Amino acid sequence: MKNMVLIVAGLLMLGNWEARPQNKVDFVKEIQPILQKSCVECHGPEKQKGKLRLDSKEATFKGGKDGVVITPGKADKSEVYRRITLPAGDDDVMPNKGDVLTKAQTDLIRDWINQGAEWPDGAVLASVAKKDEKAEEAKAVEVPKLPDYKPSAAELKAISKLESLGVAARPIAMNVNWREINFRAQGADVLDKALLPLKDVLGLVDLNLGGTKIKDADLANIKGLINLNRLHLENTPITDAGLVNLKGLAKLNYLNLYGTAVSDAGLKQIEGLANLKHLYLWQTKTTEAGVANLKKSLPNLDISTGAEFKEIAKKEEKKDEKKEEKK
Ligand code: HEC
Repeated sequence: MKNMVLIVAGLLMLGNWEARPQNKVDFVKEIQPILQKSCVECHGPEKQKGKLRLDSKEATFKGGKDGVVITPGKADKSEVYRRITLPAGDDDVMPNKGDVLTKAQTDLIRDWINQGAEWPDGAVLASVAKKDEKAEEAKAVEVPKLPDYKPSAAELKAISKLESLGVAARPIAMNVNWREINFRAQGADVLDKALLPLKDVLGLVDLNLGGTKIKDADLANIKGLINLNRLHLENTPITDAGLVNLKGLAKLNYLNLYGTAVSDAGLKQIEGLANLKHLYLWQTKTTEAGVANLKKSLPNLDISTGAEFKEIAKKEEKKDEKKEEKK
């Protein structure tokens, strides 16, 4: 039955798609993920290869060391399109490491440029969060403010267990025992094995599970990490049910739920986190009403919803609805 519903929903979406004029490419849904995955690593906040950044509208249209890289309306005159369609192995091909883009991807970029290369104002790739992170990290590293922390024997054992799995629990600054762990580049099998020792790393202040396969039930293992300050759960299968485990993380300051199935019910679970200052909800199932409700409990919380994109999406939907009515 569930499958049936999915299939029907899929068909409806297809119908919708075809009703759109000449398959207009949707920057946020179709182009942004490509740039994010294949380009921003070298053309973003960390590195600006060829003096080019591709993470914001302003930077992208400013171009790189050789000038403009996208000419709206003219893919064949655009350096970006030329670079991504070069044969693998060419000196100039982009991305210049790893796999070349697929034909489907380069066609999307071509159509997007030919349709005017619209980039909604405010659509900034990873860098928003990243920049924030940097500022936060700079703050976190102000060591003198950190109270002393002495890990227990069990914690030290857990840390070496993690190390043997290839997971580094790194001190966040010199001569301190507060630690951070990043699972982003780890395989699912490593994560599975690491969950148990993770429980004992009570000095953990920064945990990045973004992009991993972490499940709701797994979050029970971080329930007791009461010193946790920053938690990345973006782009994971986490849902409302998992957030129940965050209730006791009283020091949590930063929580990223971008790209998860979390809804208003999940927000209810975190409304007691009095120290939460930054929450990312872009591309979740939360609603304006749910966000407003959370704001009531946590007035100082800075919530990033990407509302501007939802507005755009709504307008598109309305247009499509009207078309349907005319039929
Ligand atoms: C692994 C790093 C890396 C990745 C990933 C990468 N690039 Fe580059 N890119 C470079 C380097 C290095 C240069 C400068 C040397 C050159 O011009 O070939 C460059 C230069 C460019 C330039 C020329 C800028 C100028 O003004 O000269 C464009 C356009 C470009 N990249 C587009 C892209 C696009 C689009 C993607 C994603 C599909 C991408 N790059 C992914 C490393 C990368």
